[in-house]
Amino acid sequence: MRVTFTANGRPVEADDVWEGESLLHVLRERVGLPGSKNACEQGECGSCTVYLDGVPVCACLVAAGQAQDREVRTVEGLGTEDGGLGPVQQAFVDAGAVQCGFCTPGLLVQTDALLARDPQPSDADIREALSGNLCRCTGYEKIMDAVRLASARVCAGGAVAE
Ligand code: FES
Ligand code: FES
Repeated sequence: MRVTFTANGRPVEADDVWEGESLLHVLRERVGLPGSKNACEQGECGSCTVYLDGVPVCACLVAAGQAQDREVRTVEGLGTEDGGLGPVQQAFVDAGAVQCGFCTPGLLVQTDALLARDPQPSDADIREALSGNLCRCTGYEKIMDAVRLASARVCAGGAVAE
């Protein structure tokens, strides 16, 4: 089947999508958006998190057909218009929160969503918001630092994508 949707503001279409093929697979293998990672394919790790109509979802659990005529925003869509890093992305780099990077795309989307609804989250709010995103490398402290840094920058005048 053919599936058409909007990805990061641009119309995309994928042909020969099989029944049950995940949105994650379509993004990575058919429409040239490999930023979202496939770490577990079971909805356990959060590395595949994307926005679907503004709501963060695990793209490995969403059938591609469910995205028909809807808006998807991936980690690639969190950057600036001129191709630079967005404030959340830059904060993760500056805080040293990226090691192997497998968890990073999902954490960036979830952090972007968190700061869009609450620009000044408490540490408890951050832990709650990111509780579905697993990281095997960092021990999470650098990630907490990154979200705090992104929060400070957003409150100082930056903007998040959603
Ligand atoms: S790859 Fe989707 S939750 Fe792990
Ligand atoms: S940086 Fe490697 S899993 Fe998080």
